[in-house]
Amino acid sequence: MLKKIILKTSFALATGLLCQVSYAAEVNNGKTLHQAKCYQCHAEKSGLGNGDLIYTRSDRKVKDANRLKSMVSMCNTQLRLDLFPEDEADLVAYLNQQFYKFK
Ligand code: HEC
Repeated sequence: MLKKIILKTSFALATGLLCQVSYAAEVNNGKTLHQAKCYQCHAEKSGLGNGDLIYTRSDRKVKDANRLKSMVSMCNTQLRLDLFPEDEADLVAYLNQQFYKFK
C-alpha cells in the first residue's frame, strides 16, 4: 500500500518535472530565435535602438494572445523568415512570458 503511494507520487513528480523541462526548452528556443531573427530589425525599425522595446511601447499593436499569434505569423510569412509552426509557437511563448504576459 505504502509502496504504491510512493510509486504514484514519484511518477507524478517525474512527469511534472518533464513537463517543466520541455516548457522551458520551448521558451528558450523562442528566445534564441528572437535574438537571431527578430531583435535586430525591431531595434532598427522602431528607431528605439533596442529590439525589445517594440513589445512594451505604449502604443504597441498587440493587445491580446490571438493578436500576438497572428502578428508573429505575419512577421514570419511577410518577411519570409521560414520558421516552422513549432518555432512560431515557441516565439509566442517567449514573447508572452517575457513581455506581454497574457493569460
Ligand atoms: C525586417 C524587419 C522585421 C523583422 C525581421 C521582424 N519584424 Fe516584427 N515588426 C516589424 C515592424 C516594422 C513592426 C512594427 C509594426 C507596426 O508598428 O505597425 C513589427 C512588430 C512586431 C510585433 C508587434 C509589436 C507590438 O506592437 O505589440 C510582433 C509581436 C513582432 N513584430 C514579432 C516578430 C517576430 C516574432 C519576428 C521574428 C520571427 C519579427 N517580428 C521579425 C519588423 C520586423
